[in-house]
Amino acid sequence: MDVDRGPARRRPGADGGARGGRALPAAGVTSSVHLRPLTLDDVPVLASWAEDVELCRAAGWSTGLPRERHLAFWRGVVDAPPPELLRLGAVSGGTLVGYVDLHGLEPARRELGLLVGVRARWGDGLGGRAVAAALDHGFGALGLAEVWAEALDANRRSVRLLQSLGMRETGRGGEDEFLGRPSSYRQFTMTSSEWRRSP
Ligand SMILES: CC(C)(COP(=O)(O)OP(=O)(O)OC[C@H]1O[C@@H](n2cnc3c(N)ncnc32)[C@H](O)[C@@H]1OP(=O)(O)O)[C@@H](O)C(=O)NCCC(=O)NCCS
Repeated sequence: MDVDRGPARRRPGADGGARGGRALPAAGVTSSVHLRPLTLDDVPVLASWAEDVELCRAAGWSTGLPRERHLAFWRGVVDAPPPELLRLGAVSGGTLVGYVDLHGLEPARRELGLLVGVRARWGDGLGGRAVAAALDHGFGALGLAEVWAEALDANRRSVRLLQSLGMRETGRGGEDEFLGRPSSYRQFTMTSSEWRRSP
């Protein structure tokens, strides 16, 4: 899966959807997580996530950057995202808890990215619900044919998350480190028809 590397490392960072003909909650909403465009009001919250060194390490973000760098980075993401990046805020209980990316310029195929910004909430199911909402949005409103993702093998949460959503493993990608350990990317995909057939 795409890991956002934060301001110094890699590229920066709506609603709608139907699934299998079943009635869904409001477009882009799955259970208690819904997606919405990021706004400038979100910038202080987004920048605050980088204060958590463990989160930075897991996400591959640089550590030790001044807060102003993070604020500037996120203002740029909100105000002038690169054309290939669709980054949506994931909201639960009225609070911004993370974001999902549908990344790429191909008309019918995007790469999924994801971060849950409050580490104390990891394991609560927010990531899985955010990704489910992103797939609904991608295959629904955006009319995508395929969403793919890659996760480092050592990032067990991320691998579990993709597997539990029924994404199909397709092979291996490049090498990288996760929390200081060498690992390699596992690649996953899902087509719109697989998504519609999924339980
Ligand atoms: C990866 C990430 C988004 C997961 O978010 P989350 O809110 O914890 O996700 P969920 O609670 O939905 O859990 C996802 C899966 O991980 C499993 N899990 C939870 N804790 C775990 C642990 N310590 N070890 C392994 N799996 C774990 C959950 O059981 C769940 O699997 P299941 O659906 O089969 O039960 C979050 O950890 C994160 O933001 N990490 C940093 C950025 C990152 O790694 N992004 C993904 C890039 S590839």
